[in-house]
Amino acid sequence: MKQRILITGATGMLGTNIINVFKDDNRFEVYGISRRINGKINNYNRVITDITDNNQLLKILKQIKPDIIIHCAANTNVDDCNDNKGYTYKLHVDATRTLAKFNSRYIYISTDSVFDGQKGNYSEEDKTNPLNYYAATKLKGEKISLNTNSKALIIRTNIYGFHLEKKNSLVEWALDNLLLNNEINGFTDVYFNPIYVSQLAKIIKETIIANNISGILNVGSKEYISKYQFLVKVAKVFNITKSLIIPKSIEDINFAAMRPRNTTLNLKKFQDVFKEVPSIDEGIMKLRNDYDNFFSNKEEF
Ligand SMILES: NC(=O)c1ccc[n+]([C@@H]2O[C@H](COP(=O)([O-])OP(=O)(O)OC[C@H]3O[C@@H](n4cnc5c(N)ncnc54)[C@H](OP(=O)(O)O)[C@@H]3O)[C@@H](O)[C@H]2O)c1
Repeated sequence: MKQRILITGATGMLGTNIINVFKDDNRFEVYGISRRINGKINNYNRVITDITDNNQLLKILKQIKPDIIIHCAANTNVDDCNDNKGYTYKLHVDATRTLAKFNSRYIYISTDSVFDGQKGNYSEEDKTNPLNYYAATKLKGEKISLNTNSKALIIRTNIYGFHLEKKNSLVEWALDNLLLNNEINGFTDVYFNPIYVSQLAKIIKETIIANNISGILNVGSKEYISKYQFLVKVAKVFNITKSLIIPKSIEDINFAAMRPRNTTLNLKKFQDVFKEVPSIDEGIMKLRNDYDNFFSNKEEF
């Protein structure tokens, strides 16, 4: 019998990639929740709802009876989370509680920004200390997930890629400007080890098939690099001169919400399970391929 898999955040950067890795696999029946329809992705059962409506969410869970839930929905706009705390709490905490409580296998997508970025190379056991409301509520979501679902898997990560409908993610913002020959700033003092979103989607599927991983798992790329170095690598595979990327300190920019400096994730546990850790160069090559095949004709680029 097919396993029913329910993905929240189905139209988001990660959600669309997760749907892509499951939709043609006949062992799974795929359901995806979002607030709006996105006509560019199909072959899954669309469920249109706002998951902050708890009664509606419960009704949907009882109807679909998913065997597996992958909870990706979030408000990834860090400043907007600070400005809309009530709604953000309902989304990141209350909806998460309802999803985690449901009797099914459950994966919660979390973030490297649960750390304050003072030391970097964070293991799964390191002390968390979120600097902004987005990260604080994502961390609360982690704790609720672990406390209410004994099979919960929490994936801490940082991702890059494209949205089906362009958003202001790091890569989209950078390419939007660089391809127009506009200069952009790249932080030389903010470090991360992000993973290309399609690589993460495949890893998530592997954890579901292996069916023996729970607790917190860091997922990223093996190299720790600054945002500046990352943007230079992206520019290189797009044959764009790196002189358009201006090295800056995060201190030079006045963000409304505080951002951590070094959220690099230690991948020892990941390596023990998966043996091979993805590399950033590999990820950026995939990004370029996907751009050429799917995204280059979007009118914004
Ligand atoms: N992007 C990053 O750099 C990054 C880094 C670390 C961790 N993460 C985590 O990775 C996960 C996926 O991120 P992403 O970049 O794929 O996010 P995204 O592209 O911003 O997508 C968010 C998704 O959530 C849905 N959503 C938002 N509010 C909702 C609501 N109230 N009810 C129902 N659906 C709602 C959105 O669809 P609608 O707008 O149509 O509802 C969309 O499908 C998130 O949990 C995030 O915290 C992301």
